Amino acid sequence: MSLRPPLKLGILGSGRGSNFIAISDTIHAGRLNASVEIVISDLADAPILQLAQQRGYKTWSCPKGNFKTKLEPEIEEQLAAQLKAANCELIVLAGYMRVVKTPLLAAFPGRIINIHPSLLPAFPGLNAWEQALTACIAQTGCTVHFVNEVVDGGSIIAQTKVPILPDDTAETLHARIQVEEHKLLPAVIRQISEGKIVLDRH
Ligand code: GRF
Repeated sequence: MSLRPPLKLGILGSGRGSNFIAISDTIHAGRLNASVEIVISDLADAPILQLAQQRGYKTWSCPKGNFKTKLEPEIEEQLAAQLKAANCELIVLAGYMRVVKTPLLAAFPGRIINIHPSLLPAFPGLNAWEQALTACIAQTGCTVHFVNEVVDGGSIIAQTKVPILPDDTAETLHARIQVEEHKLLPAVIRQISEGKIVLDRH
């Protein structure tokens, strides 16, 4: 049994929430000493929020801003305040589709991680699995990395390779990448919770 208290997580997502479910399931299975303190979305109707509510987690959705790719600074301040009020120690971007800016980075320096569906630094940005298919390469994968001001540009923590098969479509490739994401992200959070990965300060 772990002597450390559970690592308090704040989870941000904009979509289906399958990575959030993987984290939650791993905690419930007793394989991750962490607790989900709050789940936040920038989209009020995102499935991740409904899933979180069904599981009894505290949720919050951002006020609707004027941009699709980022939050206005005052909205991101509110988001950071929600995470602080929930005493979050590690912020996990699990399919969060906005660029993270100074208010959140400054509130949690070196304490924000992201899962990205490619072997970074290859294919940052949107639809990375489609970028990999178009590039006609033999393999792609997924990456967990620290978040800084560069989109998908923070230091890499861990990666898993996924082969690209001759008959892959964008859908089949993304589905196989997600199978690996669901193992990699909880595994990295576990290593952080056990002190085996030291949180970045940059
Ligand atoms: C994942 O492929 C993740 O790598 C990317 O967005 C997707 C989120 O999927 N950043 P889900 O919402 O966790 O199912």
